[in-house]
Amino acid sequence: MKTQQEENEDISNQDTSALLKIEDLSKYFGGMAAVKNLDFHVFTGEIYGIAGPNGAGKTTLFNVVTKFLPPSGGKVIFNGQHIHKHPPNKICELGIARTFQIPTLFESLTVYKNALVGAIYGKGSEKRDKENLVKKNLEFFGLWEKKDVIADELSLYERKVLMVATALTTEPRLLMLDEPTAGLSKKESEYIMSLFKKINAEGMTIMIIEHNMDVLMNISERVMILDHGVKICEGIPSKVCDDKRVIKAYLGERYEVKK
Ligand SMILES: Nc1ncnc2c1ncn2[C@@H]1O[C@H](COP(=O)(O)OP(=O)(O)O)[C@@H](O)[C@H]1O
Ligand SMILES: [Mg+2]
Repeated sequence: MKTQQEENEDISNQDTSALLKIEDLSKYFGGMAAVKNLDFHVFTGEIYGIAGPNGAGKTTLFNVVTKFLPPSGGKVIFNGQHIHKHPPNKICELGIARTFQIPTLFESLTVYKNALVGAIYGKGSEKRDKENLVKKNLEFFGLWEKKDVIADELSLYERKVLMVATALTTEPRLLMLDEPTAGLSKKESEYIMSLFKKINAEGMTIMIIEHNMDVLMNISERVMILDHGVKICEGIPSKVCDDKRVIKAYLGERYEVKK
């Protein structure tokens, strides 16, 4: 068996243009494959969209990449390092932050303290200007005026953006968003997406799981469609929407990408 250093040396001899490389990744629950022999890359600076029917394995993929669940097999390579052997806190330190489908906050803490938890985490956190980092991110998401409100009292929209703000105060290189617009109004969804576009324009690589096709196809440079844990299609939005397997498994009818 190869040591971690040998594995990392192997990688350094390969193509390193991808920030995240998923190789032959599987996750089984008993005999059921939630993610099966999955291969894909996420390139630095892109917005990579993921969609597929309920139960397709999208959230499980996020759970395995961030090690909330151990993989059954395969590799997760981030920024040239094998990370699937690391615990979630180490993966966060290395530069991956995620949000959850159901808002997950420290309910009894204030908005400010929630965001501060992110700032305390991560590589080089001791050198960070935590107060400014928290302020900058809360302002960006329109939460600064609510900084002393207890998280439990926030609206769904505020809860969702606080989760993203907290993820960003860890200063990640890759931001993974699990259905960020679920439950939000059209206006809220459009606004939150415009914020993600801004974050991306400033250099953040984003992976986003999204059911809303208008949202996903508009924001993503490339999209992957999962079905029963398997990648059935990957590519630019117009190509993916034209794919017969995608129409059959997910879209139901042909979806026109809106300009
Ligand atoms: N912790 C778990 N234990 C057992 N089965 C799970 C667990 N998490 C997810 N699953 C199953 O794995 C499959 C994929 O689920 P999930 O990743 O949540 O799908 P998606 O996010 O695409 O809707 C589903 O059949 C789900 O019931
Ligand atoms: Mg899910």
